[in-house]
Amino acid sequence: GVAAKIAPSMLSSDFANLASEAKRMLSLGADWLHMDIMVWLLFSYPVMLAIEFASSYFSVWNCVSFILIISILRHFVPNLTIGAPVIESLRKHTTAYLDCHLMVTNPLDYVDPMGKAGASGFTFHVEVSKENWQELVQKIKAKGMRPGVALKPGTPIEEVYPLVEGEYPVEMVLVMTVEPGFGGQKFMPETMEKVRVLRKKYPSLDIEVDGGLGPSTIDVAASAGANCIVAGSSVFGASEPGQVISLLRKSVQG
Ligand code: DX5
Ligand code: ZN
Repeated sequence: GVAAKIAPSMLSSDFANLASEAKRMLSLGADWLHMDIMVWLLFSYPVMLAIEFASSYFSVWNCVSFILIISILRHFVPNLTIGAPVIESLRKHTTAYLDCHLMVTNPLDYVDPMGKAGASGFTFHVEVSKENWQELVQKIKAKGMRPGVALKPGTPIEEVYPLVEGEYPVEMVLVMTVEPGFGGQKFMPETMEKVRVLRKKYPSLDIEVDGGLGPSTIDVAASAGANCIVAGSSVFGASEPGQVISLLRKSVQG
């Protein structure tokens, strides 16, 4: 079978005390630390390219300012969290597995910095890696990280099959159980069908679930076949986070 990995999401921790929060979670039994790397998206990529193209018909200054604004906005989720410098700082305080979830439109740009910073896992989104995933996975491995692919609730599971079966396969699939962006959202049970299908097809694959997991939702996720469990608000918001971690583990291990 596949081993249970309980991964508290540090997004719900006190960012000003990240090292001690990480150590606290590890001492309470966490296997991994889940790190959410997000930047902000306003438009889809084709829309932005169209705007950039259109802007080239205006004056030079219009063009320059358009491109500046667009490059700032060319991202994936409505939130900003942490980046490689924070991973690098945290790495100095712990040898733990840093399970990095990149909610960005340009994951290739982050492979080098995240590798240097000491990330352990590098999970990118399939929605933004349709063409270059082979190169991406190869580079992630070359930097000594473990490649994973994530998908949003609305993305069909078939989209990750080629990445699991490719010449350079990903080693984990992260099935998002909320829309990416924020901690503390409600678990979407309709995403469990994807986990079931995936587990049936790949008995030994690491399948991670992320969003709204806690004591009241873990059983449905565990019985669907998830073995890597991300939990932010349910762990950090509990009066006894250690009890939540062991409850999650128990549910996955049966
Ligand atoms: C959401 C992030 C999650 C988030 C989960 O975009 O990917 O990792 O921190 O938080 P909870 O467990 O509170 O839903
Ligand atoms: Zn995440």
